[in-house]
Amino acid sequence: MTDHGDDVISILTTDHREVEDLFTELERLLAVGDPEQVRDVTDKVIIELVKHSVAEEAYLYPATRKFVPGGDALADTEIAEHAEAEELMKELERTDTTDLRFAELLTTLIKDVREHAAEEESQLFPQLAQHADADELRKLGSKINAIKKVAPTRPHPSAPDTPPANKLLAPGAGLVDRIRDLVSGRGKD
Ligand SMILES: [Fe+2]
Repeated sequence: MTDHGDDVISILTTDHREVEDLFTELERLLAVGDPEQVRDVTDKVIIELVKHSVAEEAYLYPATRKFVPGGDALADTEIAEHAEAEELMKELERTDTTDLRFAELLTTLIKDVREHAAEEESQLFPQLAQHADADELRKLGSKINAIKKVAPTRPHPSAPDTPPANKLLAPGAGLVDRIRDLVSGRGKD
């Protein structure tokens, strides 16, 4: 990985692209009506989004508060949006993919997260790049990489026998809570 690839903004922007690929896949699966695949890809997207949110909350938003003028308001807005997305993900966990509400919830999540990501890329990232130095951005990047390694990676998309992501985790708590605990617990080093 190049130097540039290690900075917080590149890492999080790459995450956004990966999530967008999963969203596109989900929209296709919803259109063809394949409930099992929809569940599988939804679980993958939930894992990615929760890891991404925890990483942003642990490092991106504190840095935004510290370096960006008016950063507190910006960080507060982003955090409120994460909380809303997390509620939607928990609803999705509890809702059967064949339930009509599932597609509605998923469509709302996709729309909200797309807006959130676009907002970060057009406002927060450029402002952070302007006010924090390159070394700082790289340090934040390596912390974010470390935090994200903790959670289960996405199940291998090309392996049909791979169990759904939620089966890889201890039973009991829902996927969102399990991933959040895993990532934030270990992230505290
Ligand atoms: Fe983000």
